[in-house]
Amino acid sequence: MRRIRDRYLQLMRDCLTGSIYEDPPLKVLGTESFDPTLREYGWDWPSIAHSMIGRKRMDNLRLLTERVLFDHVPGDLIETGVWRGGACIYMRAILEAYGIKNRRVWVADSFEGLPPPDAENYPADTGDVFHTYRELAVPLEVVQHNFKRYFLLDEHVMFLKGWFRDTLPSSQTGPLAILRMDGDMYESTIDALNNLYDRVSLGGYIIVDDYRVVEGCRHAVDDFRTRRGIHDAIVEIDGVGIYWQKTAS
Ligand SMILES: C[S@@+](CC[C@H](N)C(=O)[O-])C[C@H]1O[C@@H](n2cnc3c(N)ncnc32)[C@H](O)[C@@H]1O
Repeated sequence: MRRIRDRYLQLMRDCLTGSIYEDPPLKVLGTESFDPTLREYGWDWPSIAHSMIGRKRMDNLRLLTERVLFDHVPGDLIETGVWRGGACIYMRAILEAYGIKNRRVWVADSFEGLPPPDAENYPADTGDVFHTYRELAVPLEVVQHNFKRYFLLDEHVMFLKGWFRDTLPSSQTGPLAILRMDGDMYESTIDALNNLYDRVSLGGYIIVDDYRVVEGCRHAVDDFRTRRGIHDAIVEIDGVGIYWQKTAS
């Protein structure tokens, strides 16, 4: 059973990242053909695969999800910033693989790309161009269909459609075991932290997908940790993403 579960989750990871069929990248970032190293580290945007986070950050997501299951850390799992849904589909697959019925996966996104920068309130986002990339706007129906392709769309998957500033404050998640943030900008990261950090259970994990490569995202995390006096050690994932385990409220 353990071996089959392991194979299922490896297969899901490689399908979701497009590694298995060598899905070439979208040309928008400059590369044209499939490069296994880029896909390992999530440095390109696959043309049809369902996640851009790469195999290493997928492995990290599995590791931390399994830890919260084994350690009985209470709560749901959420990603803020889902694109085609791949990382959320992986979290749902992990719950499925372990027969977990009492946790939900929350899928939070505008489903229309990133917001234009609000430089007045978030100077770190000044000049940010992510909102101009139409490749990052994936409609809700497409993401739901992507879950269906893996037979993983059911009542354990909850969608929060809209800007984080509007959807997260009143979202009915309850406690969270995993908060995975992949909204790239200062505003998107700080909105997730301000609204969801206090819901993360002790022993739960906060994952920041782009900490080492997107300056605005890093500033938001650093500002929040300083303001809240958070000293939990930052752990590197792959030179891009980081995480920490919440040890104090
Ligand atoms: C880099 S992509 C996420 C990649 C995804 N985690 C994966 O597995 O491939 C960023 C996503 O964040 C969403 N996003 C960013 N800022 C947002 C905000 N403030 N409110 C709602 N959605 C936002 C965008 O629509 C986009 O889908």
